[in-house]
Amino acid sequence: TNIILLGPPGAGKGTQAKRLVDARNMVQLSTGDMLREAKTSGSEMGRKVAAIMERGELVTDEVVIGLIREKLSGAAGGGFIFDGFPRTLAQADALGDLLAEVGQNLDAVIEMQVDDAALVARITGRYTCGACGSVYHDQTRPAAVEGVCDDCGASQMVRRADDTEETLRTRLMEYYKKTSPLLGYYYAKGALTPVDGLAAMDEVAGAIAAVLDSKN
Ligand code: AP5
Ligand code: ZN
Repeated sequence: TNIILLGPPGAGKGTQAKRLVDARNMVQLSTGDMLREAKTSGSEMGRKVAAIMERGELVTDEVVIGLIREKLSGAAGGGFIFDGFPRTLAQADALGDLLAEVGQNLDAVIEMQVDDAALVARITGRYTCGACGSVYHDQTRPAAVEGVCDDCGASQMVRRADDTEETLRTRLMEYYKKTSPLLGYYYAKGALTPVDGLAAMDEVAGAIAAVLDSKN
């Protein structure tokens, strides 16, 4: 089963993708994570994208489509979770073509609905394990022992450079201008299923599981 998790910054895409990897052996394809990796690799591409990401703007379609193309030829396990991709209509068209090339379908597009007011608190309270990528929050999901990852035991918690209230405003504007048209695009294809992203993490996971089960 191949799905897209679609929603604004802080909607919970990464959190739910990680759970699906553990629960269903799915493969998470997060263009945000891939771009952050490119950034730390010190490559020329990495340096270019770092500045764009820190401003909260979208990286070019060409770059992210290239990243996804590389990963799609790999093993799909229980299916792909597209997390933070596609984000423009051009990316959505490219994904359709790439999936067709590898003989795969898109089974569902899950719209994670959250209102803007909640996103500020989500984003400014977030921290992530630098070793395994598990996502935490100062209030809603603190690590059991401060600074130590519950999932892998590493002490490498990091906060993202773009997780400020000011940059979030730019990220949200980019979402409304360039990404929200995808809701209509996938609705018209009969693929869109809305999920209440404001519910507790377990409830959101349950709602997504129900969508996946209905496709199997
Ligand atoms: P990306 O890394 O994709 O960031 P994003 O879309 O802004 O999404 P986030 O990772 O911020 O949020 P999330 O929805 O994953 O929420 P999370 O689960 O962490 O992109 C970063 C940048 O890279 C972009 O700005 C752009 O520059 C570039 N980029 C990436 N992809 C691109 C593309 N395709 N094209 C062009 N450019 C691209 O949750 C947030 C917090 O809330 C956490 O602390 C979590 O613990 C908490 N939380 C989650 N769920 C709940 C819940 N149900 N209840 C309470 N708290 C919760
Ligand atoms: Zn960890």
